[in-house]
Amino acid sequence: LLPSRYKSTSQHRPFAFAFDIDGVLLKSSQPIPGAIDALTMLKKHDIPFILLTNGGGITEAERVARLSEYLKTDIHASQFVQSHTPFKLHAAQQKFKNVLVCGGVNDACRHVALEYGFPHVTIPFDILAQDETVWPYHKLTREERACTRPLSSDPIDAIYVYHDPRDWGLDSQIALDILLSEGGRIGSRANHASPEKPNPTFKQAVPLFFSNPDLLWSNLYPNPRLGQGAFQILLQGLYKAVTGMTLHSTIIGKPSKFTYDYATKVLKAHQERLKPHLPAEQTTVYMVGDNKLSDIAGANAHKWTSILVQSGVFRGTVEEGKSGDIPADYVVKDVNDAVKLVLSKEGIF
Ligand code: G3P
Ligand code: MG
Repeated sequence: LLPSRYKSTSQHRPFAFAFDIDGVLLKSSQPIPGAIDALTMLKKHDIPFILLTNGGGITEAERVARLSEYLKTDIHASQFVQSHTPFKLHAAQQKFKNVLVCGGVNDACRHVALEYGFPHVTIPFDILAQDETVWPYHKLTREERACTRPLSSDPIDAIYVYHDPRDWGLDSQIALDILLSEGGRIGSRANHASPEKPNPTFKQAVPLFFSNPDLLWSNLYPNPRLGQGAFQILLQGLYKAVTGMTLHSTIIGKPSKFTYDYATKVLKAHQERLKPHLPAEQTTVYMVGDNKLSDIAGANAHKWTSILVQSGVFRGTVEEGKSGDIPADYVVKDVNDAVKLVLSKEGIF
């Protein structure tokens, strides 16, 4: 129940949105029909929202500039959480000196990690440029070679996957080499376990962090595409085949609590900027997503109200969307219907 002061000033109880992007607002770079109108409605009624995506691969500033153009709406980095954004917290802990960052186009993810504050960032192309026999099937183009940097004398002390690798063979080989190395030293090899020669004391050389568990995601192609979760399966399978042991990794992104906790802080700060007089902690958050495994599972676990749209990965019926192991609170055709449903439910119109 809201304090009485809110009722007399026709203040609605505070509510806000968290929007997934791929399959909800956009398909590739094209707005999904009704998405622009949906955001326009929220702007008109001054309703706070954040974007919460398992996408990534470029800086938050670059991504929101593109999103603002595609969606014809000003989106600010302060209302935006992408797959690797919460890794800012890792950089702030200053635990790692030289991290290997995989994924994305050329060295875009290096710049993201450096901007987060990681002291030194190595990318697979740097290692390939030093010795092309490390993966003889990828000849660096002039453009790719131009974005390489000399290797640091420090060993790699963590591996991150910020976005989908563009060469799964190169990135999985380089990551496996580091996992089987002596203390993260590039080019070294530990006396690692193998199926023929089990060694229960063997431990992977460095921790491994993924930013996005999505096996599938939705773009303009008629059927869902393989996402970073598929690369995780590849790396897990290779590690098992080579060592006979299980690869240990930390996977953030939706539906992880780590990411939803981070998004909650971003939303609260955004609300306090937009509506300082409202008690942000009493806000009802509506999460609009197209993937049960990431958007709906995360929202349900975080006690947000989950709204599943039929415009992306999920293509089932309303009943199917509201049932099963991960039931959505609501199932609607698209984000425009989602916003209208909530604004009506919250008494805005
Ligand atoms: O790589 C992006 C994909 O995994 C899904 O993105 O926006 O639907 O969370 P999104
Ligand atoms: Mg999506």
